Amino acid sequence: MNSSPTLVQLASDTQSVLIDLSSGVPSIVHWGRPVGDTTGDLSPTFERPLPHGALDVATALSIVPEHASGYQGRPGLSGSRPDGTDWAPRFRLDSFEHSSTTLTTVSADETAGLELTIVLELRETGVLRVRATLTNNAPTPYRLDALRVVIPVPGRAKEALTFGGRWTKEFQVIRQPLFTGSIAVENRSGRTSHNRPPIAMLGTAGFDETHGEVWAAHLEWSGNSNMVLDANPDRRRSIQAEELLFSNEIVLERGASYATPWVACAYSSSGLNGISESFHQELRSRPSHPATSRPVTLNIWEAVYFDHDLSTLKMLANRAAELGVERFVVDDGWFHGRRNDLAGLGDWWVDARIWPEGLWPLADHVRALGMEFGLWFEPEMVNPNSELFRTHPEWVLTDHRYQPVLGRNQLVLDLTNEDVRAYLFEKIDAVLSEYPISYVKWDNNREYVHASHEGAASMHTQTLGTYDLIDRLRAAHPLVEVESCASGGGRIDFAMLSRTERVWTSDCNDPLERQRIQHGFSYLFPPEYMGSHIGPPQSHTTRRTHSLAFRAATAFFGHLGIEWNVLDASDEDREALAAVIALHKRFRPLLHGGRTIRLDHPNDAVLAHGVVAHDRSEALVAFVQMDTAESPIVEPLQIPGLDPDRHYRLEVLPIVALPKGPAKQQPSWIREGAELTGRHLEVLGVQPPVLDPESALVIHLRALDAAKSVVER
Ligand code: DGJ
Repeated sequence: MNSSPTLVQLASDTQSVLIDLSSGVPSIVHWGRPVGDTTGDLSPTFERPLPHGALDVATALSIVPEHASGYQGRPGLSGSRPDGTDWAPRFRLDSFEHSSTTLTTVSADETAGLELTIVLELRETGVLRVRATLTNNAPTPYRLDALRVVIPVPGRAKEALTFGGRWTKEFQVIRQPLFTGSIAVENRSGRTSHNRPPIAMLGTAGFDETHGEVWAAHLEWSGNSNMVLDANPDRRRSIQAEELLFSNEIVLERGASYATPWVACAYSSSGLNGISESFHQELRSRPSHPATSRPVTLNIWEAVYFDHDLSTLKMLANRAAELGVERFVVDDGWFHGRRNDLAGLGDWWVDARIWPEGLWPLADHVRALGMEFGLWFEPEMVNPNSELFRTHPEWVLTDHRYQPVLGRNQLVLDLTNEDVRAYLFEKIDAVLSEYPISYVKWDNNREYVHASHEGAASMHTQTLGTYDLIDRLRAAHPLVEVESCASGGGRIDFAMLSRTERVWTSDCNDPLERQRIQHGFSYLFPPEYMGSHIGPPQSHTTRRTHSLAFRAATAFFGHLGIEWNVLDASDEDREALAAVIALHKRFRPLLHGGRTIRLDHPNDAVLAHGVVAHDRSEALVAFVQMDTAESPIVEPLQIPGLDPDRHYRLEVLPIVALPKGPAKQQPSWIREGAELTGRHLEVLGVQPPVLDPESALVIHLRALDAAKSVVER
């Protein structure tokens, strides 16, 4: 390790990160556009004046800012010894090691007996990953209240983007100005949450999909979290990311360490599409990224709920196979005592009253039809009405001196307890070993309240316990894929996506809601992870009714599925469904491998998004009319990301039916197709038709010189 402090640069073609090592903890002094060579004297840029009325030192906004060094905002580290000392440590840089893309620093506070290690990695994907680790070297325990990673952002970043929402309405984009003060996205639900996911962005005024500088951060963690956007006038702007710890959750004995979750950061000088590209590339680069085509799925939940009847399910499987479905998933209701949501969780063996011959008759049938067989579990939960609870009431994650709060009639199991994890492993492993199961839907249907082990707050170790259980089951069954579900999209984050191949994006299959949910989802996560199902004509969660065309065009872009009792579907609908599934399969490499784009359109009643092949030979773009347009004038849709000099053939993709729309005459290219250059498409755009509200048009673009469409290769 090197020991002389200096300015270090991590660099790629698209960005530079300059880190100042002259104070005790490294500080990011520039993160943004590339700066080239930095070997000269940069003090004219970085030497800060000392105003009257302020401290006599220019305090550093380091990655873990220190109160004792003069930083007046939220410190990066909060904690203390039992006697109250060491509450504001002050570190000295001990050593560092770096390459052109990584930096590791070790800082020590010998007075407090604490050591702080910071790691930064600028990855080829464009993502900057940062984490901090605190080690207690003193004999007395150190109680850690917070260790936050702080990423400074320039003052020109004046607008915030975070996400809100709720169950069946995840990933709702919240845009707000950030002038003075802080915006906190604080999540205590014990899961990544439906309403406060740990994602925060700041950008220059008016940033949109294709314009403006944007800085984004995501905490790779599935438990409690806090993301703060700080913009107080007496200090620099920053995005702060931390695991939210309850009182006394982390007590470091001598020699013990706490590492923050990784914070994945992305920078773009060309709007939000650039942010998504980095985040998507990051997930795609991980070993957990699914290597095979995403199988079209039929999930039986909204088709039959708890009403498991073998002959009906066999007929459903027949129908699914006829439609082109590749994976058939048996949802909640197959295990011991589970006839409704009042009982059974924890008793993970097949209910012999419902399945007297086990799952074999259905599993065999499904597999004989050429489909994979998938099964639902909710491992972390227990119903008070279950054999497991009756045998082991002490296995509940709660403070046993109080009456626990129920959620969906269930309690959370204490996964900090190795015995509980061993029990769950044994039961789930037995089912996965007995049956030819290719896929597990891993659900989690309640928020965590009073998460205690032996009376002490334990959300941190509970989250690690969940990871451990998933990882062990995956290691034992490496060919079984896992979907993360938490009443839909309550647990979607990079930590979960590093151990699962799919997420259940939302319990809402209403395409109108789904368009917004999927739009928000797409900022961080690539479409191949996004479970998106075509539901029945009337949505089960909103009671709205939509055409099959709109439902299909919405689900088409994700990991496609059906969640509809297609035994009730008309012949016409089944024919149309089969055609959509065939089309989806044809375009799957592009849909699940291309670059996601969201398109800016002046009309607020429009959402537009798409996917462009990496070689820009082909693209699919959806123009979605969400609501009645305020004006009869539909402005052209500008399509970015194509090759400006190539000519593209445009055709409307026949997803079920061409929309008629409320117009006497529609642009003729809608029926006849058209040819335009990439430059014209980006600068001038293409004239969309007038569409009915709640309908969509999917446009296929293909470069005329492309030897073959990616989908035909
Ligand atoms: C919630 C999930 O999001 C649904 O898809 C379904 O699996 C139910 N749980 C089953 O209880």
